[in-house]
Amino acid sequence: MKIFVIANQKGGVGKTTTAMNLGANLALTGKKVLLVDLDPQANLSSGVGFTKAFKADSWDENQPSPYKSIYDVLINNDPISQVFVSTNTPNLFLIPSNLSLAGAEIEMVNVLARETLLKKALENFNQQIDYVIIDCPPSLGLLTINALNASDYLIVPIQCEYFALEGLGQLLRTVDLIKGINPKLAIGGIILTMFDSRTKLAEQVVNDVKEFFKEKVFTTIVPRNVRLSEAPSHGKTIEEYDPKSTGALAYKRLAEEFIERFN
Ligand SMILES: Nc1ncnc2c1ncn2[C@@H]1O[C@H](COP(=O)(O)OP(=O)(O)OP(=O)(O)O)[C@@H](O)[C@H]1O
Ligand SMILES: [Mg+2]
Repeated sequence: MKIFVIANQKGGVGKTTTAMNLGANLALTGKKVLLVDLDPQANLSSGVGFTKAFKADSWDENQPSPYKSIYDVLINNDPISQVFVSTNTPNLFLIPSNLSLAGAEIEMVNVLARETLLKKALENFNQQIDYVIIDCPPSLGLLTINALNASDYLIVPIQCEYFALEGLGQLLRTVDLIKGINPKLAIGGIILTMFDSRTKLAEQVVNDVKEFFKEKVFTTIVPRNVRLSEAPSHGKTIEEYDPKSTGALAYKRLAEEFIERFN
């Protein structure tokens, strides 16, 4: 079981889109993939169809969440085996999130070993999973710290836009700090996202990122593709929504490259 954290404290760079569509494409090759939604926004959960399906059963928003989530794993010590669910994609599993996670960072403050709660939970989870992929919120708070501590590899999506590299120094310094607790954490790869071939700027960003991160940068660049942004609102991965789109092809190629790198 190899554990990957997808993090970048910059918002909207494609973390969740990558977690879900890289995860789905890995699963479609036969790998067993567990997605962990560590963002209170729960975009990953709804993106793979989870919350939406549930809401169809008229869940009262004012009631406590009736399903178990990553919150129960972190705060109530529930084993992952009782929380994870399957998705519509074969071999793709999910530990869902929900809004209660928004309070978790504060609730965790007084918990012993609060930086390693997710690590412990994953260590106690002994199912046959090839890849665990953790989707982080856009911050470097306790949730992201938990993900970094639990992981073998950090994957950083970088949007091909102005200010793309902003904040990366801070992320890399955090990784250095984490290595004190989790020495095995390594930078697994950089994924360039939302590439727009019509702009000169996008190309410039690609060059800058490659110059800085060298061979860590995945060869596959994810293009800007409206189908990728539409799919989650239907609770579908890009493979379910539009497998012939340029976005789907990119995430399929990325999954192949990923397996080559981390087999
Ligand atoms: N390659 C792409 N082409 C077009 N739209 C994209 C692409 N990747 C992501 N998007 C869209 O851009 C927005 C931000 O993407 P996403 O939610 O994956 O980023 P994020 O880093 O997870 O954001 P946050 O920091 O808020 O969690 C979403 O609306 C998503 O659908
Ligand atoms: Mg996200």
